[in-house]
Amino acid sequence: MAERNGSSIVVISRGPIFCLFTMTSVLFVLSWFFVLRSTGRPHFIDQSLLPNSNIFSTGDSSSEKQRQNVEPSIGNRAILVDNEEAEALQETETPQAKDDLKCDSNDKVVLQVFMYDLDPEFHFGLLDWKPEGGSVWPDVRNKIPSYPGGLNLQHSIEYWLTLDLLASELPNAPNAHTAIRVHNSSEADIIFVPFFSSLSYNRYSRIKPHERKSKNKNKNRLLQEKLVRHLTAQKEWKRSGGQDHLVIAHHPNSMLDARMKLWPVTFILSDFGRYPPKIANVEKDVIAPYKHVIKTYVNDSSDFDSRPTLLYFQGAIYRKDGGFVRQELFYLLKDEKDVHFAFGSVQKDGIRKATQGMHSSKFCLNIAGDTPSSNRLFDAIASHCVPVIISDDIELPYEDVLDYSQFCIFVRTRDALKKKYLINLIRGIGRDEWTQMWNKLKEVENLYEFQYPSKEGDAVQMIWQAVARKVPAIRMKLHKSRRFTRTLPRNVRELISIPAPGNFW
Ligand SMILES: *[C@@H]1O[C@H](CO)[C@@H](O)[C@H](O)[C@H]1NC(C)=O
Ligand SMILES: *[C@@H]1O[C@H](CO)[C@@H](O)[C@H](O)[C@H]1NC(C)=O
Repeated sequence: MAERNGSSIVVISRGPIFCLFTMTSVLFVLSWFFVLRSTGRPHFIDQSLLPNSNIFSTGDSSSEKQRQNVEPSIGNRAILVDNEEAEALQETETPQAKDDLKCDSNDKVVLQVFMYDLDPEFHFGLLDWKPEGGSVWPDVRNKIPSYPGGLNLQHSIEYWLTLDLLASELPNAPNAHTAIRVHNSSEADIIFVPFFSSLSYNRYSRIKPHERKSKNKNKNRLLQEKLVRHLTAQKEWKRSGGQDHLVIAHHPNSMLDARMKLWPVTFILSDFGRYPPKIANVEKDVIAPYKHVIKTYVNDSSDFDSRPTLLYFQGAIYRKDGGFVRQELFYLLKDEKDVHFAFGSVQKDGIRKATQGMHSSKFCLNIAGDTPSSNRLFDAIASHCVPVIISDDIELPYEDVLDYSQFCIFVRTRDALKKKYLINLIRGIGRDEWTQMWNKLKEVENLYEFQYPSKEGDAVQMIWQAVARKVPAIRMKLHKSRRFTRTLPRNVRELISIPAPGNFW
């Protein structure tokens, strides 16, 4: 209609033109109004990027009504609820009902996890736990088997995730429930392999000075072989070729033997430093933080001026590629008064000293070692010491939902090795900018806390959520791989493969 009006403008005199112009404008505005109405609200968010986007997008025009139906305190969680459920909620209105509702919310993806009941020698047996009452799992209601302390803890991710799954089955489980254990593998989003591979590496393949090249020397390798044999014989593995399996190999040297055979799985790793890109990569796999060894800075009331050290580094020196950078930086920085740069790994008394050092520094250096990642980054975050990352190939946990540039400084290695570049860059960051980053560090520090029971938004929940974000891609790969699995019946195959005589040319 608007178009016809437009074409007739040419032949009509001025007065009516103005009138027509007004009319078309009004019509135009009205038509937009209707378009917006029919699509609910304009969509500024790419909903495909949201977890549970299918649920979210069914909200549409009725979501407005639902929101009004439900208590304001529940906020936009109500978008996820059916009308009936919302009405039922209004009638019952108990605190319990509200809690149930929260469990379905958009920010807490529920991931259904099937866990193999592996022999305890693969998991809690490595902690000298002995099975009781016929179960291969400890009773996590009371006392949980403890994990060896010290530097072992850095890679204890396997332990916290397994405990969280076991806890998800408890009635009134106190944990945050991103992941729940299911016993029917057909209903699972992911198949979890509970092998404490980092602990197996730490325990069995390092030879301590007082041990003779011992009986345990090959135990780590033997366990991996046994695991591969066991896994590949399971119906769950055969169904998917392992593509929907989740394997934790957080210590860079763990799973050294099995990784090449288990490559279709999703790995949980600290970095990709020792993996060929085909075996592990950022699309397929999940990067998890280290558990920090430096104590969290509770009630941190420090500020820019009360942290006397400008830049702090304490770490091992390596002879490989990363070691070169560390040594060069040492020569570049050693004469700066307010810089602490020392070699020697953080151990025993060293932890106390490093805690002190990081708590009283403005910036903490994180330089690639013999692998791109290191625990130091997470120690710095726990200390609210702004990380300065010099590691070109580092991959960071949850980077698809977290912008590290808000609380970390990244410097390319080739720049950092230029004379005065690094120190001038750091000195150029003033109180306001530093304070902003320090505040952000305090906001994000919980995302790196491992604990039992796990709490909402801690590292355990964040890792499960990162896994949940991989699930659609895993499904897609699985479905695609099934495209051509249908084969002809045998008698037909035989007919085709034997050509009739004379039909060749
Ligand atoms: C497991 O789940 C599938 C799919 O929902 C179902 O068909 C099957 O019967 C279930 N198996 C058992 C033992 O409950
Ligand atoms: C931190 O502050 C809170 C409240 O002021 C206090 O209860 C708590 O004991 C403090 N913790 C430490 C470790 O100082």
